[in-house]
Amino acid sequence: MKNSREQWGSRLGFILAASGSAVGLGNIWKYPHMAGQNGGAAFTVVYLLCILIVGLPILLGELAIGRKTQLSPVGAFNKLSNLSNWKWVGFLGVASAFVILSFYGVVGGWTLKYTLFALSGGFDSLSGSPDLSGQIFSEFIGSSLQPIFWQLIFMSFCMGIIIKGVKSGIEGGAKIMMPLILIILGLLVFKGLSLEGGKKGLEFLFKPKFSDLNPSSIVMALGHAFFTLSLGMGTMITYGSYLDEKQNLFTSAIWIILLDTFIAMLAGTAIFTIVFAMGADPSAGAGLIFVVLPTIFPQIGGGAVWGTLFFFILFMAALTSAISILEVITAYFIDEKGWSRNKATLLFGGIISLVGVFCSLSLGEFNITALLNISFFDFLDELSSKYMLPIGGALTALFILSKWSVKTFLVELLIGIKELKIEKSLLISILQILLIVSSLVVGLIIINELFDLLFNQSLQKMAGF
Ligand code: PHE
Repeated sequence: MKNSREQWGSRLGFILAASGSAVGLGNIWKYPHMAGQNGGAAFTVVYLLCILIVGLPILLGELAIGRKTQLSPVGAFNKLSNLSNWKWVGFLGVASAFVILSFYGVVGGWTLKYTLFALSGGFDSLSGSPDLSGQIFSEFIGSSLQPIFWQLIFMSFCMGIIIKGVKSGIEGGAKIMMPLILIILGLLVFKGLSLEGGKKGLEFLFKPKFSDLNPSSIVMALGHAFFTLSLGMGTMITYGSYLDEKQNLFTSAIWIILLDTFIAMLAGTAIFTIVFAMGADPSAGAGLIFVVLPTIFPQIGGGAVWGTLFFFILFMAALTSAISILEVITAYFIDEKGWSRNKATLLFGGIISLVGVFCSLSLGEFNITALLNISFFDFLDELSSKYMLPIGGALTALFILSKWSVKTFLVELLIGIKELKIEKSLLISILQILLIVSSLVVGLIIINELFDLLFNQSLQKMAGF
C-alpha cells in the first residue's frame, strides 16, 4: 500500500500546496481588518509570537505525524498509538473538515460572483455609496438561488482538482495559483502605494498602537494563528503524508509560515493603502472587502481591472484552502475504507455542497438553527474556528507529549536535516516546552470561550480587564 501512495512531485510543489492551504480567506479577508481594529502593528507582533510559539510546534508535529505514518489523520493516530482512542483526534479532524468546508464553500462562491461582478463593470454604480453596496451585498447573500449557484460552481472546481490527485491536481493547481496570487497582490500593493494618501494606510496597519491592544485581541490573535496555518484538523498531517524522507520538515515549515505571513501583510497593505487614499472607512470590519472595496475601486484609475484582480486572488486563495480541506476527507476514505479517489471526492464533495446549501439559505429566509438564535452559517463558523480547530491542535500537542514522545518526534524531524548545530537534548527540551505552552494556552482559550458562551462572562472580564 505504501508504494502505491501518491507523493508530491517536488519540494517546491509541496511548499506551494501547503502554503496554498494556509493562505486563504483568513489572510486576505480576516487578518487586515483584525489588525486594523486591534492596534495595528501591536496586534501583528502578538500574532507573530503566537505563530512562532503555538503555530510552529504544532505545524511541525502535524507534518512529522503525516510523513512518519504515510497516512491521513485517523490512520496516522491509530498507527502511532497502537489502535488506542487517539484515533478520535483524527475523526475530529475529518469532522472539522466537513464543518469548515460547508461554509467556506459558500464564501468561495461569493468571491467568484464578485470577480465577475467587478469584471462586468458592476462596481461602477456603487462608486462612493457604501449603503447601496451594503444593501446589494446583503440582498445577494440572503437570496436563495444566486449564492447557491456560485457555491456549487466553487465546489465543482474544488472537486475537479481533488479528483485529479495529489500531484497533478493539488500540486499542479498550487503551482499556478500561488505565484499568481503573489504577483497580483504585489501589483495591487504597488498601485495602493502610488495613490495619493495611500501611505496613511501603512501607518494604520503597521504603526503600533499598544493602547488598542486588549486581552480579547490577544485571544483573537491566537485563534487566528491556528486558522491561518490550517492547524488542528489534520490538513498538515494529510499533506505531510505525501512527503518522502528526503525533505527537511523544519525549513519547509518555516517557508509555509513565512509565505502565509507575507501574503497576509501584502493583502493588508494593498487594502488599507487603497482605503485611505480614497478616504473610505477603515474600521468597516468584516464588511470591508465585499461592501467597502466595491465602492472605492471605481474611483481609482483602471478600477474595474483592479477590482477584478482583487476578487480573483481572493477566489484563488479560497480555492487552494478549500481543496486542502476536502483532501482530508477524501484521503480518509481512500486510506481507511479503500474507496477510489473519484468516489470519495464526488460523494463527500456532494454531501458537503448540500450542507453548504443550508448554510447559504440560513443567511436569508430559511435557517435550520433559528432556535439557537444564530444562523447555521455562523454556527458552523464558530463551532469550527472557536472549538474544533483549537481542540484538535491542543490534542495533537498532547498526543506528542504523552503518547508518541517528543524524542521519537525529534527523530522524525531530524530526517532530512544534514547537520545539526544544536544539542539534541536541548532541542527536546525546547520542543517539550513549546508543546506544553501550546496546549496550555489553547486550553485556556477554549475554557474562556466556553465561559463566555455559557455564562456570558469571559475570564478576562472576570479578572477585571
Ligand atoms: N488557512 C485557511 C485560511 O486562512 C483556512 C483553513 C483552515 C484551511 C483549516 C484548511 C484548514 O483561510
